[in-house]
Amino acid sequence: MESIQAIKQRFGIIGNTQSLNRAIEKAIQVSPTDISVLVTGESGVGKESIPKIIHQLSHRKHNKYIAVNCGAIPEGTIDSELFGHEKGSFTGATQTREGYFEVADGGTIFLDEVGELPLTTQVRLLRVLENGEFLKVGSSKVQKTNVRIVAATNVNMFEAIEKEKFREDLYYRLSTVDIHLPPLRERQEDIHLLFRKFASDFALKYKMPTIKLTDAAVQMLLKHRWGGNIRQLRNVAEQLSVLEQNRTISADTLKSYLPTSGTNLPAVIKTSKAESDFSSEREILYKVLFDMKSDLNDLKKLTLELMKNGNGKDVEKKNESLIQKIYGNDDEDDADYEEDATENNEVLSIPEHSSNHDKNEPVLDKYHFAEEIEEEETLSLHDKELELIKKSLERHSGKRKLAAAELGISERTLYRKIKQYDL
Ligand SMILES: Nc1ncnc2c1ncn2[C@@H]1O[C@H](COP(=O)(O)OP(=O)(O)OP(=O)(O)O)[C@@H](O)[C@H]1O
Ligand SMILES: [Mg+2]
Repeated sequence: MESIQAIKQRFGIIGNTQSLNRAIEKAIQVSPTDISVLVTGESGVGKESIPKIIHQLSHRKHNKYIAVNCGAIPEGTIDSELFGHEKGSFTGATQTREGYFEVADGGTIFLDEVGELPLTTQVRLLRVLENGEFLKVGSSKVQKTNVRIVAATNVNMFEAIEKEKFREDLYYRLSTVDIHLPPLRERQEDIHLLFRKFASDFALKYKMPTIKLTDAAVQMLLKHRWGGNIRQLRNVAEQLSVLEQNRTISADTLKSYLPTSGTNLPAVIKTSKAESDFSSEREILYKVLFDMKSDLNDLKKLTLELMKNGNGKDVEKKNESLIQKIYGNDDEDDADYEEDATENNEVLSIPEHSSNHDKNEPVLDKYHFAEEIEEEETLSLHDKELELIKKSLERHSGKRKLAAAELGISERTLYRKIKQYDL
């Protein structure tokens, strides 16, 4: 049997608290069996590694591992996603489809946020757990599957049972073994260790020197409540790594990255509010960075045009839409935007396009060099922007108006970005 230490290394788990070690040990112990496991713990404590450990150490490891986020699938389609459907069973069911329980036969299914499952789906799940039987939506033919189930939740299941949102029989069937992951504030000795690991990862990712905390800042880190747990700690380390020029972080600087409310409040199970307040602060900062980068690109393009042509009037005429964009024009139409987007792409490929203009070559070579560096630096920022837009659209079920308001940009700008990223 692999040691706890080896498992931590293999799955990138940092920490040495006894309760964390106990949780990993339990995962190792149950892995060779087919026992259902329920992983519990607040949001952001690292529940997602446990089902991976269980699957990888089990005899099922060569078969499928499917992770399903039960909270993210609409109520109307979840039965079909999990159990499949027959052709013609509902409008749009043009083909018979296999569900995850059929596809993962012989493997493991991780039901994340299991507390969010609709009651009707809970009935189907109970049947699979009891005798491995299920029916496709719209079918009366009983099918068999051999799937090991690991579930996770960050909600208080007893409360959910009391409010009749979760079936008690299913809860007991799912939680034959309960693996609890402790909140970060109960893992004092791991906090600084985790922070140092994240700081070094982000230094590598963003190609910057590693940030370091002063002693007072370490104390502040240890005292903080960490409502969003390790996910929040990671976010703070990321923001500091990207935004702070002075790589030695004082307590005052750190304080400005920590949400102030609720620091000394007792634990509550679901703290997604604190998490989302926190991430919106980060989102604003990223947005400022994206806007600056985009302006800089436009200015570079204009400067290059000026260097190439010298004649200010011609340049002004040729780059009318670009000039409008830089000096404020929230009203330009989408066709203008299309044009701008193409021009921006050209900025990155100027040397190829212009290689026949010999007299400009030294200038362009220099420019190309600058562009290459710039492109590398902005790649991760673009990823972030894309992620931000996707998340916002998801939060507002694709409603652009609401997403744009949340992102602090006009609906038209959002529309352009959606096109730009092919969303
Ligand atoms: N012990 C750990 N060492 C290193 N990174 C960790 C550890 N625990 C969690 N993380 C990181 O913290 C983040 C949150 O973990 P994870 O997604 O597993 O949380 P969760 O418990 O599933 O939360 P939620 O209930 O909100 O889904 C991930 O980026 C994960 O890689
Ligand atoms: Mg999770």
